[in-house]
Amino acid sequence: MNFPIETVRAQFPSLATTDEGQRRIYFDNAAGTQVPQQTIDRIVDFFRRFNSNTGVFNPTSVEVDALYDDTVKAMADFLGTTDPGEVLIGANMTTLTYQLSRSLGHQFAAGDEIIISRMEHEGNVSPWLQMAEDNDLVVKWLEFDRDTWRVEPQLLQSLLSDRTRLMALNYASNLTGGVNDVKALTKMAHEAGVIVYVDAVQFASHRLIDVKDLNCDFLACSPYKFYGPHLGVVYGKRERLESLRAYKLRCASEELPFRFSLGTPAFELIAGLMGTLEYFQWLAGETGVTGERRQQFAGAYAAMGAHEDALSEQLLAGLLAIPGLTMQGASTLTHRVATFSFTHDRHPASHIARQLSDAGLYCHWGDNYAFEVAKALDLDPQEGVLRLGLGHYNTAGEVSEALTLIEGVLAA
Ligand SMILES: Cc1ncc(COP(=O)(O)O)c(C=O)c1O
Repeated sequence: MNFPIETVRAQFPSLATTDEGQRRIYFDNAAGTQVPQQTIDRIVDFFRRFNSNTGVFNPTSVEVDALYDDTVKAMADFLGTTDPGEVLIGANMTTLTYQLSRSLGHQFAAGDEIIISRMEHEGNVSPWLQMAEDNDLVVKWLEFDRDTWRVEPQLLQSLLSDRTRLMALNYASNLTGGVNDVKALTKMAHEAGVIVYVDAVQFASHRLIDVKDLNCDFLACSPYKFYGPHLGVVYGKRERLESLRAYKLRCASEELPFRFSLGTPAFELIAGLMGTLEYFQWLAGETGVTGERRQQFAGAYAAMGAHEDALSEQLLAGLLAIPGLTMQGASTLTHRVATFSFTHDRHPASHIARQLSDAGLYCHWGDNYAFEVAKALDLDPQEGVLRLGLGHYNTAGEVSEALTLIEGVLAA
């Protein structure tokens, strides 16, 4: 079935916004996506009808409690767990990862080892480096392969020892777009008794996550990268979360997921997250998929993924044909998401980005906080890469227009 691109685009009011009459081509989705009307409506509805704190008898408060319960249940379906207690909602991925790393640090002894992959965004690096520093742990780096653009199992095997306690692993790189075989790497780590913390922030925008299939211990994602509000979500295996010392107020609940919920949550954004999940259900319906909520999410992601793959093929072919351009990531669609970074032999990334942005082609440049990746690729520390991140509301027409603009800038 054809992807209903015009109906999809009509759900996103910001796609029609112009800059002094100039249309916007949103190819900066890897940094954050636009939101559908369902998300906006939910946020507005929260403030109009039931803005309240939680836990008392006022009808507004009762409704907030129900909203929280509904949203963690829907997010549990989205992530692939049946236990809503395993779903922690917080400010963003970085904050939640810092919080959990403080708790995990208590389970390790001086001289224990942790492994951090070199493919990570800093959100899955700095919290662990500082945890290691605080607890006298040894840090080992897991390199990615420069041909496959992913972590290869044999590299992990060589790092595992009887002192290894934790591995921080990227699902999809926010710079190269490379996707790791998280399931296989997790299995290998578990055989050595290692806890696996997965950063799925980039992956979640493009493919449906299945935490039970991956069998990872923790997995982080950020709704604002998958058409939702600025929040972070972490899945944690119940037994892991229960075993952790929670940094929390003494009088706050010991129940999951609340024992990791610090202070008053951003209820209006949680309402917005519910709207985003409802949008995926709507999209599934538009593509003819019915069934349980999880099946609807799978249907929506299958349709979004197929559409993005077609755009990616078009964009990649066009970029590869440009003289002087080097892809900083795989040149095929195998094991990658629709995040594309490149450098040019004459034009610094910041110059390209400025000209493209002036022409209404939204993009990003620099190391994009993939600090270790940029160092491993020997990129110019000031310039990094020019990054284009596609989303499912982008069109083939936008890709053609983008390629014409990029060719023009790079030909100068
Ligand atoms: C792969 C990856 N991990 C982590 C983060 C940080 O996410 P947050 O902004 O929710 O802390 C980002 C943000 O760009 C990212 O792309």
